[in-house]
Parts: sequence; C-alpha cells; structure tokens
Amino acid sequence: MLDHYADNDWRAERAVITGDLIQDDSAAAYDRFRELLLPLNMRMHCVPGNHDVRHLMRKVCCAPPFSYCAFEEIGDWLIVGLDSCVRGSAGGRVGADELERLADVVAQSPSSHVMVFLHHPPVAMGSAWLDSVGMQNGEEVLHYLEALQKVRLVVFGHVHQPYDAVHSGIRVLATPSTCRQFLPASEDFAVDNRPPAYRRISLLPDGTCETEIIWIDNE
Ligand SMILES: [Fe+2]
Repeated sequence: MLDHYADNDWRAERAVITGDLIQDDSAAAYDRFRELLLPLNMRMHCVPGNHDVRHLMRKVCCAPPFSYCAFEEIGDWLIVGLDSCVRGSAGGRVGADELERLADVVAQSPSSHVMVFLHHPPVAMGSAWLDSVGMQNGEEVLHYLEALQKVRLVVFGHVHQPYDAVHSGIRVLATPSTCRQFLPASEDFAVDNRPPAYRRISLLPDGTCETEIIWIDNE
C-alpha cells in the first residue's frame, strides 16, 4: 500500500490509521511501523485496535508526526480519534469518559463539522462472527454523536471490508485492511480474496465528503 502511494501522484495532507497496527504484542513491531510510515512525511493520527498494546503504542504514536487519540482542526472540520478498545476483548465499546472527552473537544472547537475515527464499528456488519466482536454500545454511541449535532462522518477499521451508509444523519465508513480482507456477510470467519486497500477522503467545506477506496491490485 505504501509503495502504491509512493508511486502515484495523489497526495494526502493527513493519514488516519484506525488501529491494529501490530499483531505480535512487541515493541519492535511498533518500531517497524514507525520506520515504514515516517517517509509519508505528514501528520498521522492513530487510534488503538484490539491487537494493539496501548502502552507500547503510545510510546511511538504520541511522538510527532504521529498522534494518539488526538484531535485537530483542519479548515472548518474538527477530526477526533477515540479509543474503542476493551482490555482482553476483541470486541469494543466507547466508554463514558471517552464520549465526554469528545463532547468537550467539540464544545470548545469553532469548527462546523466533525469527523470521528475509531477502531470498532458502531453498526452491525451483518456477519455473525464479526458482529460478535463488534462494538457493544454502537447504537448508544451513534445517538450520542447525533446529539452533538456537528458529527458528519465516522470512520472505522476492524472489519477488513468496505462499508458506506448513513445512520442518524451521519455517514459511516469502514476502510478495508491494508493487508488481508474478511469475506462480507459470512456467518463464520472467512478471508476474502480481495487485495489490500486504503481509502482517500476529502473533507468538503459544506460538511460532506468525497471518498474512494483504492484497491492495490499489483497488476
Ligand atoms: Fe480489530
């Protein structure tokens, strides 16, 4: 994926990395992540996934150009990363403290539009095994975001497949994995044969976004 980005003309201003950065619980894996991503030469917003080890991840991702569960104002948009992980569990939930932090950041920002990014999906994917490790309080989280009135976009990872729908007036997007994909709508765990991918997102001044998934076909 990084080679594909380097070989093409399209350039991003920020990267949003929605968790599961590593697989083996090692500090060395985060060092490798850092080494691989630094050449992107831009600010990179990271949130943890269920495969991450928070204290190891923070060591790398709290140091610029990385940031960890942080927020940033970009034009008339505020982007905010949330921690949706539950220690010892593949599934997630967004705790009250994290939701309150979001509300405070939104209240203190002059931005008209908010994008939230986190690891776990606040919606069911229609895949029995995957929904059993989804977000416990997704519906509550979506209602909370709706009540903030400025949230236009939610972006998540975890599900290794595309998703694009509107819930409670908020556009909700999943980005496929930069590695292997999961088979959509599968009752049991199954790997899809689609290639790695990333998503380009342009945040527009009117609160909408343009977005496209780029599949790395390696033709
Ligand atoms: Fe995950």
